[in-house]
Amino acid sequence: MLKFIEGKKLFIPVTLLLFGYVYSQIGAAGSYVAALPALMVPTAHFAFVLFFFAFTASSLARLAPGNGPRFLMRNRRYIGLNFALVHFTHGALVLSNLMLTDATRTLPVLAVGGTAYVFLAAMTLTSSGAAVRRLGAKRWKMLHKVGSYYIWGIFIATSAEHIVDPGPGTWIPALCLVALGLRIAAAQQSRKRTNK
Ligand code: HEM
Repeated sequence: MLKFIEGKKLFIPVTLLLFGYVYSQIGAAGSYVAALPALMVPTAHFAFVLFFFAFTASSLARLAPGNGPRFLMRNRRYIGLNFALVHFTHGALVLSNLMLTDATRTLPVLAVGGTAYVFLAAMTLTSSGAAVRRLGAKRWKMLHKVGSYYIWGIFIATSAEHIVDPGPGTWIPALCLVALGLRIAAAQQSRKRTNK
């Protein structure tokens, strides 16, 4: 089953799901602007699922080697690029919401959220072997580590209300903490191994 979504093929189900959902919501609401409230949260949630697997792939492969984690490691780049596709769609929707409705966000919120998109753009544009060679492995790793932790931080901040008031949205902050736990456990395991 996993071979059907290996590598670039992952774009097919993700693009079909994403644009199928957006199209269906615009049809149901009658217009793009009327559909925005039904589109902004689900696109962020869909993006988070992809982010979770890209962010934890190497930790899962280290802690629980098996077919699933090996698939995640082999396809981490395409999972990351599909995250970018879905999350840039969230970005376009929230920008439309600010431009086409009377919704507002304070400058600090726009700056903090916008910085996540600057990181996401840099990580997307450097998701190739050529970019790793051009940047050098050390700088490439630093960009992708700082960028992914920054985006992790925004996911937990944007869904923090679901920690204070647990409900259907609590799965995002809960999985953010699981992801952090996996990365810490994997780092500790590597440190133990190197100290032996
Ligand atoms: C300047 C950029 C951004 C703006 C203006 C923005 C705006 C919004 C809006 C209007 C919503 C709908 C719910 C609400 O009204 O609060 C939303 C939901 C959400 N956004 Fe963004 N967003 C931005 C960037 C981001 C980034 C970078 C992330 C994550 C890295 C993110 C993650 C989320 C999540 C997880 C939700 C769903 C929250 C929930 O479950 O209640 N957003 N965003």
